[in-house]
Amino acid sequence: MCGIVGIASENDCVKGIIAGLYSLEYRGYDSSGIATLNDNLFASKKSIGKISRLENAIIKDKISGNLGIGHTRWATHGKPTLNNCHPFIKNNCALVHNGIIENFEELVKTFALNETCIKSETDSEIIAEICDKLLNEFNNPIDVIKKISQNIQGTFSFAFLIKGSDSIYATRRGSPLVLGLSENLNSISSDVLGLPDETREIIFLEENDIATINPSSISIYNIKGNSINRKKHEFVAKKDFKTKGKFMHFMEKEIFHQPICLEDIILNFADKKTNSVFLPKNTIDFNNISNIILVACGTAYHACMIAKYWLEQMTDKHVSIDIASEYRYKKNNIDKNSIAIVVSQSGETMDTLECLKKFRQNDLFTISIVNVLNSSIARMSDYVLPTLAGPEIGVAATKSFTAQLAVLALLGLHIQQQKNNIEKNVFNSLFSIHESIKKILKDSKRFEEIAHSLRDAKSIFYIGRGIMYPIALEGALKLKEITYKHCEGYAAGELKHGPLALIEDQIPVIALAPSDHNFSKILSNIQEVRARGGKSIIITDKAGSIKAKKYCDQIIVLPDTNYLTSAIIYSLPIQLIAYHLAVLLGTDVDQPRNLAKSVTVE
Ligand code: M6R
Repeated sequence: MCGIVGIASENDCVKGIIAGLYSLEYRGYDSSGIATLNDNLFASKKSIGKISRLENAIIKDKISGNLGIGHTRWATHGKPTLNNCHPFIKNNCALVHNGIIENFEELVKTFALNETCIKSETDSEIIAEICDKLLNEFNNPIDVIKKISQNIQGTFSFAFLIKGSDSIYATRRGSPLVLGLSENLNSISSDVLGLPDETREIIFLEENDIATINPSSISIYNIKGNSINRKKHEFVAKKDFKTKGKFMHFMEKEIFHQPICLEDIILNFADKKTNSVFLPKNTIDFNNISNIILVACGTAYHACMIAKYWLEQMTDKHVSIDIASEYRYKKNNIDKNSIAIVVSQSGETMDTLECLKKFRQNDLFTISIVNVLNSSIARMSDYVLPTLAGPEIGVAATKSFTAQLAVLALLGLHIQQQKNNIEKNVFNSLFSIHESIKKILKDSKRFEEIAHSLRDAKSIFYIGRGIMYPIALEGALKLKEITYKHCEGYAAGELKHGPLALIEDQIPVIALAPSDHNFSKILSNIQEVRARGGKSIIITDKAGSIKAKKYCDQIIVLPDTNYLTSAIIYSLPIQLIAYHLAVLLGTDVDQPRNLAKSVTVE
């Protein structure tokens, strides 16, 4: 999957672009390039293979400039050769492109291009040629880009340098672009990881937006050329991950970072316009695989549990899950027609790593879903799916968990897509998850009240059915981990098989109960609790709240969900309740006793 970085700076931009390209390496690429505009002259360097080769070429033969665009190319049209490498420079225009221009051959005729000028096998060079041609007809680059955009069929994100202008121009449709704003520098990239550390705020460009980026300002226009405003979000730079900023704890900061992480993940791996999921550099044909084996530890294991529900509902695959520390020491009857997936935030967890080795010894194709891209697990697996959550400092996993879920959900949709049966409504719902989470975070005071009511509880239960069962387990893990209070997560149907004996008024039961097919069942379980004097807190949606209100002491109403979005959205309350209770009890929220962030021992 190609990557774009563009920087407009008061200083030289080349170092920043190279750094950005390194951050986009995870997307997969086979060549890279950079172009700058300096004193109205273009300078460019391209290289096949690793970005370090591009960097070395620049060290040997320096290029500089305040405006620059860079690209990592993952070949689609034409081999990875220097000729096919971006940026493409044509007289007055240089451009980099992500996506696929479906009608590129037609465009040669539409714009009466001189075919002898096209030197590459790419669909992208033609757009540079058109851009240069139109710059002679229109005074304004925005009009040029409008015209190009109106004529393209397919998906694209572009960044352009144009002679005579001190701005980078960018536009997108179906392929993400995010603007980075800061004091002396503005930038653009395919995802937040490619933006420079100086960035203070970010703006996700929407479909057909056209942006101009210069060192001191940015402007955004719609396809009609009218100036528009887009919402700014706070940016958490790689170096800022190490500071708490306005938050009291890293955990709080990481909980509040989730809308941005999730929007970034979805925009990077899914295209709303074409209803398709695009996993970077994926060549796996899931149609030839009948079994999926998932292993992980702790919170990542809970993500695997949810993935089992999802993948078995969404596909015809048989899915098995195991706790890594169990899997590695038992006899496993592995069907050779399986694929193995390991999930790990740190990518260093010893038990998970050992399972990965075991899978490899059994000649299984291995996928890792990791947050740390150069980790041991990532390096050892055949295929890496990054969770793009950015560094997580708090020992309690929060944003890495919802990011793992988002990636696993996309994987399920991707498998459906390979069978041409992607569930469009479910797919579309992914694009508004970040908005639902923002709503929950806006009202985070409610969870402080719940935390107050739990303060003196002897023990706490989380219960859930279906996908909410692993969320109940995760809720209990979060509470134990940072509040040191005893908490159990239970499949609600199991209550009457033992734990009901514990229920009394000092033991509150928190039910995770979206109004899905399990709703009436869990409502019965809540009544069983209340009949034994237990207190109940219900977390549900609007429809659920109407039926549930008479059966609970406290109620939290969340946005509506479906089977794919519910796990992500219902993760927020369990994180916030644990966080507020820990603050109230005065425990060490970010570094709970006896625990480590990365468990590299058995
Ligand atoms: O880095 P990993 O995801 O492999 O770590 C696995 C567990 O140690 C981890 O999820 C742990 O359970 C969390 N810190 C709990 O919040």
